[in-house]
Amino acid sequence: MKKMTLALLTAVLGAGVNAQVVTTTLNTYEAKTTISKHIYGHFAEHLGRCIYDGFWVDEKMDVKKQGRIRLDVVEALKKIKIPNLRWPGGCFADEYHWRDGIGKPADRPKMVNTNWGGVSEDNSFGTHEFLELCGLLNTEPYVAGNVGSGTVEEMAKWVEYLNSPAQSTMTELRRQNGRQQPWKVTYWGVGNESWGCGGNMTPEYYADLYKRYATYARNYPGAPLKKIASGANSDDYRWTEVLMKNIPRNQMWGVTLHYYTLPTGNWSGSKGSATAFNEQEYFKTMKNCLHMEELVQKHSAIMDKYDKEKRVALVVDEWGIWTDVEPGTNPGFLYQQNSLRDALIAGTTLNIFNNHADRVKMANLAQTVNVLQSIVLTKGKEMLLTPTYHVFDLFMGHMDAKLVPMNFTTPDYTNGNEKIPAVNASASLDSNGKMHITLVNIDAGKDIALNISLKGKSYKKVNGRILTSRSFTDINTFDNKNKVIPAAFNGATIGKGSLNIKLPRLSVVSIELE
Ligand code: AHR
Repeated sequence: MKKMTLALLTAVLGAGVNAQVVTTTLNTYEAKTTISKHIYGHFAEHLGRCIYDGFWVDEKMDVKKQGRIRLDVVEALKKIKIPNLRWPGGCFADEYHWRDGIGKPADRPKMVNTNWGGVSEDNSFGTHEFLELCGLLNTEPYVAGNVGSGTVEEMAKWVEYLNSPAQSTMTELRRQNGRQQPWKVTYWGVGNESWGCGGNMTPEYYADLYKRYATYARNYPGAPLKKIASGANSDDYRWTEVLMKNIPRNQMWGVTLHYYTLPTGNWSGSKGSATAFNEQEYFKTMKNCLHMEELVQKHSAIMDKYDKEKRVALVVDEWGIWTDVEPGTNPGFLYQQNSLRDALIAGTTLNIFNNHADRVKMANLAQTVNVLQSIVLTKGKEMLLTPTYHVFDLFMGHMDAKLVPMNFTTPDYTNGNEKIPAVNASASLDSNGKMHITLVNIDAGKDIALNISLKGKSYKKVNGRILTSRSFTDINTFDNKNKVIPAAFNGATIGKGSLNIKLPRLSVVSIELE
């Protein structure tokens, strides 16, 4: 297509298009930082119907299974190549005693899941079952150890059980339980939310405790641990500062950040509905979602003070939208539907992480199946993929590709007297020379035109996919599983050194240039 002037481009794109055209440059010579695939990680806690009745189902359920692991869910997750899975919590991790979850299922002690609904946990899904699941998924396990109610010895022995090839009581036990070779688990969380459900600690106390636990969580041959400290809640910048100051760089691979998007912004009272909300509520939710940019910037700036070389990763191992539960479901199970709005949240958040790939090296959406911002929902034998699942599909090209920095001034999305950025995007160059661009237009009313000049490598072919729907409240249900699914995108045209895109309202678009 001939290169058009901006005015002509706007005229051609027609009514309903934001008058402001976004102009930017993508220069492949600037592609330096790797976007770690681990940004696309997931999280499975012993909470509600995530593990039990999600991944791990009744022996009698008539679905394809391996043991009690549900294979339709596994197949869906394999398609989007989930790079890691965090387990067993969450808050559950700091009450979990791993030795209750090994050996003959009938002999395993039962416990009360005090955090999540007070239900009985029969420990039928434990260490071996989780690692079998990770094997089926071809994903890396990320285990969170118990600091809150556990002991240094308990954590040290779990690592030995998992990773040591030598003869010992622990490794003999592992062999008796059917596993000869060590699993070589490397991602290792030292507690979870130690400022809250993980022990209500001060950062100073936790930093000291971290060093003790981390010292005895040993590296075994071929399994050097990537130890991850339990980091800040949202904008608790002091927590990050104290940890960075007190924990030596060589004892900590990463430090976490937890931030949930709450539609109302309130933890007490209603958080907001997953399915029934108006544009004002939608706007507020997106504004709350965009707060992640500020959080990542400010926590990173603190980390930069102590770690200029960026050796310590910022690990956003809990993120996503948290709404009221679906009416009629157990409030302790955190089961919520998933709308186009949530897909826009996922796309926006993943773009933020990509653009901060120099510091954000891992992230985990909460939670994979049937809990919070799920990518899969199940109902008996039925399973559906949520709009959020499809975003992970659209973003796959960025995994381990090199970030191509993208700076632009976005039009505003206005609601009443307030405004937020309407467009967000990220771009990367993969090892085959393909360019991947993901764009989100959160404006509920206006399409937006982009004019991108391409520097460095030249491209001839453009392919695109789009996820959109009429309303931000649209969802996939068990009666209509394909209401919000990706489609081919024809709104991008490539010219000599330029790419023009018409980005529809309420859409996530992924573009591949060859
Ligand atoms: O993801 C649900 C809960 O949210 C986790 O258990 C906890 O870490 C966080 O508060």
